[in-house]
Amino acid sequence: MSLLARVPDVRLIGRSEAIRLIEADVECAARSDAKVLITGETGVGKEVVARLIHHRSARTSTTLVTVNCAGLPDSLLESELFGHTRGSFTGAYRDKPGLLEMAPHGTVFLDEVGEMSPRMQAVLLRFLESGEIQRLGADRPHTRVNVRLITATNRDLQSQIAAGAFREDLYFRLNVIRLCIPPLRERIEDIPLLVNYYVTSYGQTHRMPATEITPEALEVLMAYRWPGNIRELKNVVERIVLRAGGRAVGPADLPSDLVRAVALPSNQSAGSEGRRAGPSRAEELASLMLDRRESFWAAVYPLFMSRDMTRADLRQIVQIGLETTNGNYRQLVHLFNMPQDDYKRFLSFLRKHDCHLPFQRFRAVPARLLSREPLKVANGH
Ligand SMILES: Nc1ncnc2c1ncn2[C@@H]1O[C@H](COP(=O)(O)OP(=O)(O)OP(=O)(O)O)[C@@H](O)[C@H]1O
Ligand SMILES: [Mg+2]
Repeated sequence: MSLLARVPDVRLIGRSEAIRLIEADVECAARSDAKVLITGETGVGKEVVARLIHHRSARTSTTLVTVNCAGLPDSLLESELFGHTRGSFTGAYRDKPGLLEMAPHGTVFLDEVGEMSPRMQAVLLRFLESGEIQRLGADRPHTRVNVRLITATNRDLQSQIAAGAFREDLYFRLNVIRLCIPPLRERIEDIPLLVNYYVTSYGQTHRMPATEITPEALEVLMAYRWPGNIRELKNVVERIVLRAGGRAVGPADLPSDLVRAVALPSNQSAGSEGRRAGPSRAEELASLMLDRRESFWAAVYPLFMSRDMTRADLRQIVQIGLETTNGNYRQLVHLFNMPQDDYKRFLSFLRKHDCHLPFQRFRAVPARLLSREPLKVANGH
């Protein structure tokens, strides 16, 4: 959470058509006060775009408040945003204004808005409808503020709405100007530019002699899927610069996990990374449910029971689903087109066949954006 009056060095590096369109959308968004919803996988630059909009808007001399909605308990998030009254919770010794009040005529950037609890969604909606600030613990609104709201999420809000996890009325309020930032693998022409930029920048930061990335190494970097997008690229380049010590960097000098992910055929690579050739059997079956809305019981269950697919395939299907729902099994039931009542039956089926994957490891994995990256179905089945 931060209050930023001026942010130096906010820039979008890239020369792809996608970046040019985003630049144009940023200019357009900066000319008005309309709400902006920024979507895209983790690390694609949603926060960069939010900052650019603020700094190119008429509000640039005012405050940009950034609030991350993920991981904060409701009362803390509500108190941070709206403030609280004395005695409203243990430790609330005095009245305290929230960040919204502290940014009059500024911009509020709510990051990871898809993680908000239903209760906080209702509180935000009330604020958007009235513009009134009601401090936590108060029985009536305290004041009004004029702030511009920008929100971002790496979730697919449409499927969140379908799963009952996000309010549709709130979505319509937030989704006035929509900016979708495509993943890096869909704009690989930006990779050389980003690599050069960060090679120079980390070279200076770490006072290393200039590092040259050979064309062969660059080719590997351009073939990689970058699930963590630009944030991951930055980290990889920093590692390369530190290790190279000024020597030319060839493919053998790149991180081995990255080279392996590029080299492996799609169905042998770990998880969703490295999926680049034709779809695997698990991907085809997942696609029947995700893209064609077939039920798990019709598309997968009979094949598994008749041993027409392996346990590894079933595990991979569950993995694909959990990557989409960020490890949420209840949403997985919905995603696989089963009625919610089938939750227990589905889970006991998975447990019985040792295909119930621990959900925790998917909590950190970015949601696959189904609308922009549908799984391809081979041979139309
Ligand atoms: N086009 C770009 N040019 C230069 N740097 C970029 C660009 N896009 C992203 N970055 C850098 O990549 C990192 C991740 O960007 P940012 O934090 O904006 O991503 P995000 O989409 O908000 O990710 P998350 O969903 O994980 O919060 C930052 O260090 C940012 O400066
Ligand atoms: Mg972010």
